[in-house]
Parts: sequence; C-alpha cells; structure tokens
Amino acid sequence: MRRGSIVRITIYGVIAGILASLVAVLVPWLPTSASEEMDRIEFTFWFTTVICIAVFAIVAAVIVYSVLKFRAHPDDDRDGPPIHGHTALEIYWTAIPAVLVTAISVVSAIVLAKNDDAGPNPLRIAVTAQQFAWKFEYPGDDPVTSGTLVLPLKESVKLTLRSLDVIHAFWIPEMGQKSDAVPGVETTLVLTPTRIGSYSLVCAELCGLGHALMRARVRVVERAEYEAFLAREAEGGGQDENDGEAVFASAGCGGCHAFEPAGTDAEVGPALDDVAARAEATGLAPDDFIRQSIVDPNALLASGYQPDVMPTTYESSLSDEQLDALVQYLGGNK
Ligand code: CUA
Repeated sequence: MRRGSIVRITIYGVIAGILASLVAVLVPWLPTSASEEMDRIEFTFWFTTVICIAVFAIVAAVIVYSVLKFRAHPDDDRDGPPIHGHTALEIYWTAIPAVLVTAISVVSAIVLAKNDDAGPNPLRIAVTAQQFAWKFEYPGDDPVTSGTLVLPLKESVKLTLRSLDVIHAFWIPEMGQKSDAVPGVETTLVLTPTRIGSYSLVCAELCGLGHALMRARVRVVERAEYEAFLAREAEGGGQDENDGEAVFASAGCGGCHAFEPAGTDAEVGPALDDVAARAEATGLAPDDFIRQSIVDPNALLASGYQPDVMPTTYESSLSDEQLDALVQYLGGNK
C-alpha cells in the first residue's frame, strides 16, 4: 500500500475516533457513582468503550477510504474484479476481536466476583418487596423495620431480598447493583456506599399497575447518624403499632392511594379521602368497610378499578394492632 493511502486512512481513523470519543465523554451515560461496586461497573464500562471506539475508528477509516478511493463512475455497469480473499487479513480480523472479547469477559468476571463479595462481616439488612412498596428490616438487639433504607458510609452491606407476591427488582442507579426479588427465593445484593446523600431505590421489573411508583428513599449517612436512626426507630417502634400514620407509610399505602392527611397523591387505587361516603353506599359501618377493603380488597371493589391489583396479603403482613390503627387513621378518627 502506498504511503499516501496509509496517511489518509490514519487521518480518517483519528477523526472517527475523536467523534466517537466526544459522544462517549460528553453524554452523561451513567449517573455519578455512589458505591464501590458502581466504580467497578464504571471501569468495565469504560474499558469496553475504549475498545469499541478503537475498533469503530479502524472500521470507519477503512470504509471511508474504500468508498472514496474505489467508487465507480456513475455509468460504469461492469462487475467488479473477482477477488478470492486474503488469508492473512482474515486471521487478523478473527484473532484480534477474539482477544478483545476475551479481555472484556475476564474483566467482567473479576468485577462480578468482587461485586458479589461482601467481605467477612457485612451489615445485613433484609429487604421485602411487595406490590408496590419496599420494607427494610435492620438487625440488632432491637430489630427495626422501616420504609426508608439508611446505609452507613463505606460499610459493606449485604441485602437479602424477598418478595411477597410477584417478581420485583432492586435498583439504586447510583450504586449500580441490581437484583430481582423473586417469590419463594432469597436473593442477595452487596453494596458499599461511598458518597453521603439521598438516593432513590426504584423497582426495575414491571410488577403491576403501581410499578412506576414503587420507590423508596435511600440515605447514606455517617455511622453515628445510622446508629441514631436505629435508636430513633427502635424507640418509636413501640408506638408504631398504634400509629396509623406510621403504618400507612411503612405498608406503602401511599404508593397507590391519594390520602390528604398523609400528603400522598398516587392514582393507582381509589383516593381514600371520601372513604366514609363510599362506606355509606355499601351500607357498612365505615370502620368495617375500611377493614374489609384492606384485608379482602377484591370483595368491595371501587367502581372503575380492576380486581387483583391491591395485594391481598395485608391481613397476614400487618399485626392486629397495626390493622386497627390503620382503620382508625383512614376513618379520620385519629
Ligand atoms: Cu415492583 Cu415494579
């Protein structure tokens, strides 16, 4: 090949490489990392991207060069010369991609193994997913349950995921790791937060009408603040049973229902503000109507709403005291 051709191919390659690099760097493809696991995922992402940009630049350069150099005259209808192939070239373009793909696999396998390794003594938090809310149980002498996920900074946390109904998926975009919560199976997920802040846990598996609203707040705090949170929740735990507002929040009712006293405005299920009026229409006492609607939602379906959207598990997942408190709260008696 003549020297002039090599120079031209090189120039095309550099231009293609710069354009592809700009697309890679200027577009914010990933959220800012907030965990060690996400740092490793980002490394894999950039490792792969750099290889892709190099391959793209070479391929684009050869295509542009060929199109310009070998283009036929518009009225040239002859067949091209029969070319048999080029054995050496074929060996190169098979061997080099094979090496690159193997390198990506090795890096990915190492990152996966490290991201699954919680170390010798991780903090363990049990996560329960249910249409359409998340619940977190913290360990300790006084076990604490909350609708907010609070994580101490720089500590390895092993989450165990359970689902009470259908398949959900645990995902905090800034922390990278994602895992399904599958009914009947306990899955796990390891996180090591590296940045103080507030994040959103989102459900990443289409799980029903309220899927888009199935979110929970995640806070990453210093160890001392984490301890304070646990102490506060443990103290409040005794009253929680009788505090309808707390039950409403921890059971995730606001994920689907608008209720003014709770400040929620979701529209998956009927609004709960006029519940007394609707009870009257059924001829039931308001408290009985509310209780039945919670434990057996399909029996007293509000018009315009589908059956089997609201979970039927609350009778077992709420204690009697919690159910009483919730009924009182929704009936406006507290
Ligand atoms: Cu739970 Cu989507």
